[in-house]
Amino acid sequence: MLQRAQIISVLAGFSALSVAIASSLAAPSKVAPAPNGITLPQNYKDWRVIGVSHRKDNNTLRIILGNDAAIKAARAGKTNPWPNGAILGKLVFKDTSHKAWEDATIPGKFVHAEFMIKDSQKFTKTGGWGYARWLGKEQKPYGDDADFVEECHGCHTPVKDNDYVFTHPIILP
Ligand code: HEC
Repeated sequence: MLQRAQIISVLAGFSALSVAIASSLAAPSKVAPAPNGITLPQNYKDWRVIGVSHRKDNNTLRIILGNDAAIKAARAGKTNPWPNGAILGKLVFKDTSHKAWEDATIPGKFVHAEFMIKDSQKFTKTGGWGYARWLGKEQKPYGDDADFVEECHGCHTPVKDNDYVFTHPIILP
């Protein structure tokens, strides 16, 4: 028969194990940060939709997502400027035809995930937005050094009057 002290130590062992399991589930992502120090936003796969787009020049479908702050601003129509703390995410997939319906274009191979993080104090050189991109399913950080943001910011400059954002949030019923 187990002694009381033994039972307690067995129970303590179980609870230590469950703490270890719980903390490993909540562990931060192992994905390397972008060359400018931005880390992959946590839980971005659970964010809600702001828009979709299709690029005909490189045959890709895009889903534009937002964190809670971005969704709140998008639904309220308060996106010029976007509030500090808003993060816009974009998931890019190669165009693929649906096997059962050829004319339906659906997301195929995952190309990259990229983000714009609004912090008007921190990212003064790039219009108040921090930029970062991770390539492929292996989520390899994009860019040789921190200067990669010039490419992002440069191409987003034509929409300066829309707070450097191309996407106009979808209009929902
Ligand atoms: C060659 C031009 C070009 C470059 C370079 C570029 N973007 Fe964009 N970006 C666009 C266009 C056009 C859109 C809107 C259409 C779409 O959804 O792809 C867009 C959309 C986005 C969006 C969704 C919000 C929005 O503005 O509509 C994010 C996030 C984004 N880009 C991040 C980045 C990051 C990060 C980089 C650099 C690593 C980058 N972009 C580089 C042209 C560019």
